[in-house]
Amino acid sequence: MKNVNKEKWDEIYKIKKQKGSFNKYPTEHIVVFIAKNYYKASDRSAIKILEIGCGSGCTLTYLAKEGFDAYGVDHSEYAIEMSKEFLLINQCSAQVSVQCATVLPYADNFFHACVESNSIHCNTTEDIRLMMIEIHRVLRPGGKFFGIFVSDRSDEFGKGRMIDVSTFDFSNTTTFRGQFDGFPVIHFFSRDEILDLAGCFSSCKLELDITTIETGSHRSPLGYWLVELRK
Ligand SMILES: C[S@@+](CC[C@H](N)C(=O)[O-])C[C@H]1O[C@@H](n2cnc3c(N)ncnc32)[C@H](O)[C@@H]1O
Repeated sequence: MKNVNKEKWDEIYKIKKQKGSFNKYPTEHIVVFIAKNYYKASDRSAIKILEIGCGSGCTLTYLAKEGFDAYGVDHSEYAIEMSKEFLLINQCSAQVSVQCATVLPYADNFFHACVESNSIHCNTTEDIRLMMIEIHRVLRPGGKFFGIFVSDRSDEFGKGRMIDVSTFDFSNTTTFRGQFDGFPVIHFFSRDEILDLAGCFSSCKLELDITTIETGSHRSPLGYWLVELRK
């Protein structure tokens, strides 16, 4: 079956690659998570950390520079090419693969941690479920997941063409903020859905980070769940 999601990300990263338009900095929330949990490790090179949807490689580069054993998957070959280039520019290394995250090419219990930033929510309900099962499988007991998922409390929720109950196609949609305009697949998470997906993990910590644009009487909130799970 044609994967419109992968095709769109290929299109986006093909243009980014041509322009040399790298995302230079990792999300602050990921830096805080990594610092809090792994900076004190006596041997950082023994700590294996996987990033799902690594894009042009800013998080992988940060992880490698901090001395961790970094791995990344992305289903766009252009994104992976950019990740390799960004790692090279920064004179560090990580193991990267072109791979859809519904099937992870790693052994059970392999990683100490898995992180993602704005990637998992670019998928349907069904694929997200498969990804979370895979993430649980590749994490070692006690291993942690940190992700940033867009919330159903956002202004954009319910706009676009419905794909499934919480997933929308924004290919032909124009919104006030424009955050997801053009995305073929965007999934909005409720608190209950995350708790359900976290069912196989031993603990789940959730924080909701909402920013609101106010113009006159119009309010446009955009919410992200900061999801911390422990196997
Ligand atoms: C919004 S970008 C974020 C990129 C990166 N995490 C960052 O913060 O710069 C979303 C990324 O997730 C990747 N992605 C989306 N769904 C994926 C899937 N099912 N498997 C692998 N990668 C995926 C896309 O190709 C894209 O690189």
